[in-house]
Amino acid sequence: GSLENYASLFKIIQKAKPDEIYHLAAQSYVASSFDDEFSTLNININGTHYVLSSVKELGKKIKFYFAGSSEMFGKVSTKYQNEKTPFNPRSPYGISKVTGYYLTKNYREAFKIFTSTGILFNHESPRRGSEFVTRKISYGVARIKKGLQKKLSLGNINSKRDWGHARDYVNAMWLMLQQDTSGDYVIGTGKEYSVRDFADKAFKHVGLNYEDYVTIDKTLMRPAEVDTLLANSSKAKKQLKWQPKTTFENLVIEMVESDLEFVTKFGY
Ligand code: GDD
Repeated sequence: GSLENYASLFKIIQKAKPDEIYHLAAQSYVASSFDDEFSTLNININGTHYVLSSVKELGKKIKFYFAGSSEMFGKVSTKYQNEKTPFNPRSPYGISKVTGYYLTKNYREAFKIFTSTGILFNHESPRRGSEFVTRKISYGVARIKKGLQKKLSLGNINSKRDWGHARDYVNAMWLMLQQDTSGDYVIGTGKEYSVRDFADKAFKHVGLNYEDYVTIDKTLMRPAEVDTLLANSSKAKKQLKWQPKTTFENLVIEMVESDLEFVTKFGY
């Protein structure tokens, strides 16, 4: 199926007759969303609408999960963000997720469909694409350690994120659809670290100093940056009994170790 094609999504849902739908698909690269605003907005907004509309047409018993994002908060004015924090997106990607959030909410209210949005903060793992900063760092560190690369260019290393492990966050998504009522939940660790902290820990893990290898490339800076994001997940902790299990340090180590293994095995 394609998010750009209503009929294809409708047919798949009609055939599979799912009990639950986890709608994670999107153009999810924040930086690329500035280069092609039109594709990002068309795919992310219409794609979400097509899935929701198919659920409405085919069977209201389906439980629907929408992958919201902390990018919806954008330029924040409060230290912590929870379900009541106003949205202030800074990218076409963030705007598309805010619209998806409201579509999801409207289908819940207008058509009484079980629809929940997880407002997930950055979640990482060794499976992360190397377009994203954490994997770019862990892969770069492994290649530098093995002598395959000399430098690692990054953009804004002062920006701060609330980074958790994807494994823990997928568990939160599932918990949301096991509830009796639907709703919106902020999911994050409640701790924030800068890109610089991530690089520092990753290089240190292999006995190197990031300052000797990281170079700053201004072309990697975003036209409008989200400087800081920090979750208050009290609602999820209380209602879903959800707790993140992986610490920042263990996340960095797991990613670097996995890339060291990859580079050793494949040699690139
Ligand atoms: N990608 C990238 N590459 N980011 C860099 C780089 C670099 O070389 N150097 C610095 N950064 C900074 C970005 O400017 C941003 O502030 C931060 O690192 C994180 O960037 P990404 O890893 O690309 O993730 P993101 O925070 O923009 O978005 C991710 O998390 C969202 C949840 O908050 C994506 O997974 C989104 O799809 C997701 O919704």
